[in-house]
Amino acid sequence: MVYILLSALSLILATFYFKKILKNNFKKSLHLPPVVKAWPLVGALYMLTKDPVNLIRKNYQKYGSVFTIKVLGQSVTLLIGPDVSRHFYTAADSELSQEEMLKFSVPMFGPGIAYGVSPEKRRQQFQFLTKGLRPQMLRYYIGQTLAEAQDYFSKWPDSGTLDLRHELEHLITLTTTRCLLGRDHNAATTAIRTGVFLLQNKIYFSKALAEQKAVVHRHGSKIDFDILGEMDVLHRCIKEAIRLGSPTIITPRYCQKEFMVTTREGKEYKIPKGHIVATSPVMANRLDYLHNDPERYDPDRYLSTIEKEMSSQLFSDISFGGGRHACPGEAFTYNKLKTIWSYLIRNYELDLDSSFPKGEWNGSDKILVHYKRRQLSF
Ligand code: HEM
Repeated sequence: MVYILLSALSLILATFYFKKILKNNFKKSLHLPPVVKAWPLVGALYMLTKDPVNLIRKNYQKYGSVFTIKVLGQSVTLLIGPDVSRHFYTAADSELSQEEMLKFSVPMFGPGIAYGVSPEKRRQQFQFLTKGLRPQMLRYYIGQTLAEAQDYFSKWPDSGTLDLRHELEHLITLTTTRCLLGRDHNAATTAIRTGVFLLQNKIYFSKALAEQKAVVHRHGSKIDFDILGEMDVLHRCIKEAIRLGSPTIITPRYCQKEFMVTTREGKEYKIPKGHIVATSPVMANRLDYLHNDPERYDPDRYLSTIEKEMSSQLFSDISFGGGRHACPGEAFTYNKLKTIWSYLIRNYELDLDSSFPKGEWNGSDKILVHYKRRQLSF
């Protein structure tokens, strides 16, 4: 009897261990992401600092939606597209940590802000920002932004040529200081790109102008939250400028707990603890299975049913991040840019004097614009 019991027990234990061994072996056999070939130590670092967007694009084309770049011995794994970035956006901070990125990252908002401060100070800053971004505050900032813009543009002579980049950077700094404490380089870049695209694609400038005429016809020169909500064309032009010129190249986290991803082709990869994992808004915004002819500036794409369907997938539009750490400044950004650009479109004829290839403004070029004050005619 004892013998039978011992045999049964051994059988149960053997089955248990056999299952465990099988499970471990199965885990081991799961693939790690492909590693980008580069010169040891400095190869990828050189490309990452010289031309990060091209580095990500080339390797996406070569390896697909999941690949690892070695930077000074550290594995950085890119997750491109909604299928493989779900866990990235939904995982707890204890699994994918922003705070651990302190060790690696260049601070997002400059020294002393966001990643560059202690977790406690960071929490205080976010609480302060959250209060500052409440709906009634957002409504209040629209008036502040308009007053600042009117004051700023009133100093322009009636006509002339100026560097739009310099002017918008200056104005955005003034409006952000007036509304919130802190800096806001993303909004300045987006305001400038919105203008470059509009001036390069005059058909959209005309559509935005027609919309402004209709809005002024209904409300006069008044601008408030609801009136900004009626500016659909301008909204789409800003959205498209952000899609094509996303100021965010990668959003990184430190992986503290291994996880799996499955690509749309059905390949499974294990992402080990210790990797830096990152999504890339600049690349994800140009995926051809989410956007028809993705390199083309086409604000009207958002009206197409197919495009709407494609981009309704969770985490397919990540210009402002998503999930746990989604950007709290999205509404503020749209309100500000719509206020400034509606003012410019209503009050000025604008023509681009600088010439650079379509959409190829590199961020530091001057944008010389010839302008002339006008009265809207109906
Ligand atoms: C064109 C303008 C902007 C763009 C494209 C943008 C983009 C982003 C992106 C992609 C993230 C996610 C980062 C990540 O997942 O690691 C983010 C986070 C954040 N953004 Fe923005 N942002 C913009 C403007 C603003 C403004 C105006 C503010 C503040 C007023 C702001 C405050 C923040 C904060 C505090 C976070 C961190 C949220 C968190 O970690 O929970 N952003 N932004």
